[in-house]
Amino acid sequence: MKRALVTGGAGLIGSTLADLLRRNGWKVRVLDNLEPQTHRHGRPAWVTGDSDFIEGDLRDRATMSAALQDIDVVFHQAAYGGYMPEIAKYVHVNSFGTAQMLEIIREENIPIKKVIVASSQAVYSEGAATCPLHGLVFPAVRPVEQLQRGDWEVHCPICGALTKSALTPESAPIGGETVYGLTKVDQEKLVLLWGKQIGIPTVALRYSCTYGPRQSIFNPYTGVIAIFCTRLLNNLPPVLYEDGEQTRDFSFVDDIARANWLAAESDALDGLPVNIGSGRGVPICQVAAQISEALNIHIPPETNGEFRPGEMRHLTSGTDRARAAGYEPQVDLPTGIDRYLDWIRAQGNVRDYFSEAAEILRSKGIVHRATKP
Ligand SMILES: NC(=O)c1ccc[n+]([C@@H]2O[C@H](COP(=O)([O-])OP(=O)(O)OC[C@H]3O[C@@H](n4cnc5c(N)ncnc54)[C@H](O)[C@@H]3O)[C@@H](O)[C@H]2O)c1
Ligand SMILES: [Zn+2]
Repeated sequence: MKRALVTGGAGLIGSTLADLLRRNGWKVRVLDNLEPQTHRHGRPAWVTGDSDFIEGDLRDRATMSAALQDIDVVFHQAAYGGYMPEIAKYVHVNSFGTAQMLEIIREENIPIKKVIVASSQAVYSEGAATCPLHGLVFPAVRPVEQLQRGDWEVHCPICGALTKSALTPESAPIGGETVYGLTKVDQEKLVLLWGKQIGIPTVALRYSCTYGPRQSIFNPYTGVIAIFCTRLLNNLPPVLYEDGEQTRDFSFVDDIARANWLAAESDALDGLPVNIGSGRGVPICQVAAQISEALNIHIPPETNGEFRPGEMRHLTSGTDRARAAGYEPQVDLPTGIDRYLDWIRAQGNVRDYFSEAAEILRSKGIVHRATKP
């Protein structure tokens, strides 16, 4: 029997992954501190009493060391995510936490056989694009001054022409244009580099936007589908940044869990960063419309020219690498949204936390407004 440690195993992806592994005969231990932003009412129902659950902070050396004992594969899912203003906390939880975990494994000679880290499409600066003149290009993040003018488009880095979104391969330059993105780059580079140094197989999975049952209905900073749902269920309009035409690639949580399982069972992805997504870009305004339709709550979204500097315009994951190793997403967006709505309806009344958060983000300068939206 293989033994797994799932950090962040009370969260959306970690808990779904833990269940999938258990169903397939793995022995699973979870380490999670039940971060209050995500778990406002403490331990969620899906963390059952008889499971091997350590409630603790991964930054605590002794806690992490205890969690790593007698483990074969680490699925490192815990992270501080989203657009929150706490810069130091991101670096501490994501970058320092990962670095310390790797250090403990090496110092204590813990015989871990593989480490899989949850990276993100947030490591890219902007999605790849095609220019009519220059073909495939990798544009940099759009300058704030451009966004300030209400020009949301992505221009060719060579000639300035308007570009069209293209699939982003793993070979695209990475940088991280938000503090969160930067710490995801840290996490993936630390893990891959460490693995090569000490000869332990590692994989960094760059997930696309992930959603599904168990996605926090309390956290107003992450998960656009969860946020749009809670807004509409409170008879409030979903808020679209920019003009709502930006595109994202969505993955249903079960598919992301399957990708982790595949990365653990196969050696085809060892040592690599790997995009995990659907390979389809969907405009955010279309996501809002689909949810509205599915809920039968027809409140037009609000678009007020606000934007978040550092955000990408378009990102669709090129998934050739994952597919070559046998990954195939199984749940399309309409099916996934229906499954999420079934779950959210069973949660009773949901509150809107977004309005309050939006005010905080404005006052901290994380959300800006264009002068000419
Ligand atoms: N959801 C997405 O769209 C998405 C996209 C790309 C990457 N990711 C990455 O996937 C991973 C899982 O994300 P998720 O969507 O399941 O988020 P989530 O917030 O639902 O789960 C994260 C879990 O980590 C726990 N955690 C946070 N800080 C911790 C700490 N200091 N010590 C111990 N536990 C801690 C939280 O309590 C939570 O249960 C994260 O690394 C995230 O960056 C998520
Ligand atoms: Zn060009």
